[in-house]
Amino acid sequence: MAQQRNSIHGEWSSRWAFILAATGSAVGLGNIWKFPYITGANGGGAFVIVYLLCIVAIGIPIMIAEIMIGRRGRRNPIHTLQLLAEEAGAHPRWRYLGGMGVLAGFLILSYYSVIGGWVLAYVFRTASGVFDEATAEGVETVFQSFVGQPMAQMVWHTIFMIMTMVVVSRGVQSGLEKAARFLMPGLFVLLFILVGYSMTTDSFGDGVRYLFQPDFAALTAKGVLIAMGHAFFTLSLGMGAIMIYGSYLSHNESIVRTTLMIVAADTAVSLLAGLAIFPIVFANNLEPGAGPGLIFQTLPLAFGHMPGGTFFGVLFFIMVVFAAWTSSISLIEPAITWMVERHGLTRPAACIISGVLTWVLGIGTVLSFNDWSDVRLFGKTFFDLLDFLTASIMLPLGGLCISIFAAWVMLRETTLQELAIGNGTVYRSWRFLVRYITPLAVIVVFVSGILNAIGVVTL
Ligand code: PFF
Repeated sequence: MAQQRNSIHGEWSSRWAFILAATGSAVGLGNIWKFPYITGANGGGAFVIVYLLCIVAIGIPIMIAEIMIGRRGRRNPIHTLQLLAEEAGAHPRWRYLGGMGVLAGFLILSYYSVIGGWVLAYVFRTASGVFDEATAEGVETVFQSFVGQPMAQMVWHTIFMIMTMVVVSRGVQSGLEKAARFLMPGLFVLLFILVGYSMTTDSFGDGVRYLFQPDFAALTAKGVLIAMGHAFFTLSLGMGAIMIYGSYLSHNESIVRTTLMIVAADTAVSLLAGLAIFPIVFANNLEPGAGPGLIFQTLPLAFGHMPGGTFFGVLFFIMVVFAAWTSSISLIEPAITWMVERHGLTRPAACIISGVLTWVLGIGTVLSFNDWSDVRLFGKTFFDLLDFLTASIMLPLGGLCISIFAAWVMLRETTLQELAIGNGTVYRSWRFLVRYITPLAVIVVFVSGILNAIGVVTL
């Protein structure tokens, strides 16, 4: 059997470094900004249950597969997939799967950076004290006037993109380890403080019920697709980001245990964010389906009314900036390593090229909240379309191919050797899941969701 190879681009300094970096990639705007608003837009509890099911039945097995593939190949995703396909006697065309991941990373970063910019702006908005004793209408006005101005958003989008590229150009390992080490505990503490505030509103019970009491009538096939897509998005799966982090992982670490820790942390952050936000929504008669502005229209109310709110608010938005930052880095990392390893560019040059391209594309997202808000393609704004294309189509498709690759293309012996958990129940369950359950589930949800989204069937 082929030997395990050494990394051509370095290794993490420890197992913790990998866990922190991968958790840093997973925990981001997806948990704090996106999870609450898509939950609100898709009716609450039933959506959350489907999302949690997808995390367990699809997210965990695919994350194990992706880390394993990355560590086995030890290169950028495109090259890794080609190499492992050849090793297993399959067609090198599997590299196109890596190519789709690189493209998805580019597209996601373009809008991720815009929303990262919103959070940056909110650090300063909160610090200025505008939210002190604010009313729901006041907070809404601040948000609408902010997203109504393309120029202000452009400035913050630019700053966020530069922050991302500066770290990536230096190599992800060193900076990331330090950032993630204080970020995770800090984020948890602040989320607990926010949940504590939500408990003091008289709508905490309503919020909990909205999140956990399923009303399946409120869920459409398209909603199920969005929930599944979000399981990929929130765990950074289906596009090679976790694969590239896995490529820096040493041979001695347990992939399964590490995966469980990352998934647990990521899911906890999302649920805490939901628990913090929905009681505020109901206490103030706000609309759960308010869309991408949801956290910006709810959390400032909490900060405006809790003791020490300005301090906690500033700290919270700073933490979210960091969480977004450690994710945005991983979105572009597959593209950067590919440009460096395949085309011989230097890291800084690769960063400048990809930074400029994604920045330009991001302008479309900025405008979709103001000047282009009436421009619709397939009934969606530019931002909605980009989000649907990436999170609901490209990531699940990438994940599907990854599970097929790990289960049907790679040799059983190779996966046994990489996972190093013996041939017991854990290995067999993983293999059963990636061989049958994951691909089947993704295909069913995918087909019904797309048909529903384009209006062919109403489910
Ligand atoms: N997981 C990140 C979040 O939840 O914010 C977003 C993300 C990062 C998606 C990296 C995909 C990815 F490859």
